[in-house]
Amino acid sequence: MVNVKIEKVSLTTENVLRPTQSTQPDSFSLAHISDLHLTSLDNIKIPQLLSKRILGYLSWLHKRRLVHRREIIASLLEDLRDTHPDHIAVTGDMTHLGLPMEYTEVEQWLPSLGTPEHVTVIPGNHDAYAGKAWGNSCSSWRPYLDSDTKLDIPKTAGFFPSLRIRGQIALIGLSSARPTLPLLATGTIGQKQLSGLDILLEKTGEEGLFRVVMVHHPPVPGLIKWRKRLTDDKMFAAVLARQGAELVLHGHAHTATISKLQTPTGSIPVVGAPSASELNPWTGNCAKYNIYRISRSGKNWELTMTVHGYSEDQGRFVSTAEKSLRLPQR
Ligand SMILES: [Fe+2]
Ligand SMILES: [Fe+2]
Repeated sequence: MVNVKIEKVSLTTENVLRPTQSTQPDSFSLAHISDLHLTSLDNIKIPQLLSKRILGYLSWLHKRRLVHRREIIASLLEDLRDTHPDHIAVTGDMTHLGLPMEYTEVEQWLPSLGTPEHVTVIPGNHDAYAGKAWGNSCSSWRPYLDSDTKLDIPKTAGFFPSLRIRGQIALIGLSSARPTLPLLATGTIGQKQLSGLDILLEKTGEEGLFRVVMVHHPPVPGLIKWRKRLTDDKMFAAVLARQGAELVLHGHAHTATISKLQTPTGSIPVVGAPSASELNPWTGNCAKYNIYRISRSGKNWELTMTVHGYSEDQGRFVSTAEKSLRLPQR
C-alpha cells in the first residue's frame, strides 16, 4: 500500500488562482500547460553567457523573445481563472537558458498561477540548459516540484520521480532535463528514475488511482527531431507496458499531438501540449493548453479533453475542441 500521507505546503500570496472543486461530483479537472518560456533576458550580462548559452541567447534575441509573449501569458492566467481547474500540471521549459536570475523570475511568477497545492511542475531542457547536471538548481521552485506524499523509494535528479496525490489522481513527475552539447536538446530519464517510476505506478495502481505521468520530452518515437529526442523512450515504454498508467503528458515539441503507448490492457493516451505562450509567425504555432475532465465509470475511468487556444482576434483564450480519449481497461 502506498503511503498517502500528504504534507500541506503553505504559501501565502496575493492574486493567486484559487481553483474550486469540480461542479460535477466525482470528477476532477486537470489543466496541462507547457513551454511558457516566460523569462526575460533583457538584463543579461555577457559573462553569464558561457558555452552553449551564447547560442541560446542569440536564438532568444532574434526569435524567442518575439514569439513567447507576456500578453498571452496574462490571457492564460485570466482563462485559468475562468475555467477553475482543480489542478494545473506544468511540463517544463519555464525559462530560456536556465540562469539563476530566470529561476528567481519563475519563482516570483509561480504564485500567480496557483499555490503548490494546486500546481505541479517538472523541468524542461531549457531549465537545465548548460553547466552542471540540473540536480537541485531549481530548488527555489521546490514547493511546486517536490513530492508531498511520503515515498519509500530513492530519488534522483533532484526531486524526481515525484508523487503528488489529489483526490483520486496521482501525479507522477519525471525529469528528462539534462544539460546537452550545443545544438542538442535531448532528454534522458535514467534508470534510477525509471525504477522509481515502476514502483510508483505499481503502488498507485494498486490504490486504484488515476495515474498521470508528466515528462517534458515526447516519450513516443517520431514526434520530434532526433537531436531533440528522449534517449530512453523504449525503457520508459517498457515500464508503462508493465505497470500501466492512465495518461501521459509532455511538452517540448511546441506542437499539439495525441499518440499512444501500448499495454496489455489497452493504449495509454500520450498528449503533447504546445507552448501556452507562443504566437509564432515563422511556424504558425499559436498558444494552446488542455483541460482534462477525469471521472469514474464503474471500476474504469472516463477522460475528456478540451483544448483552449489563444485567439489573436479576440485577444483571449477560447475553447476550440473537445475530445473523448479511450483508456486502458482495469
Ligand atoms: Fe520549449
Ligand atoms: Fe524543451
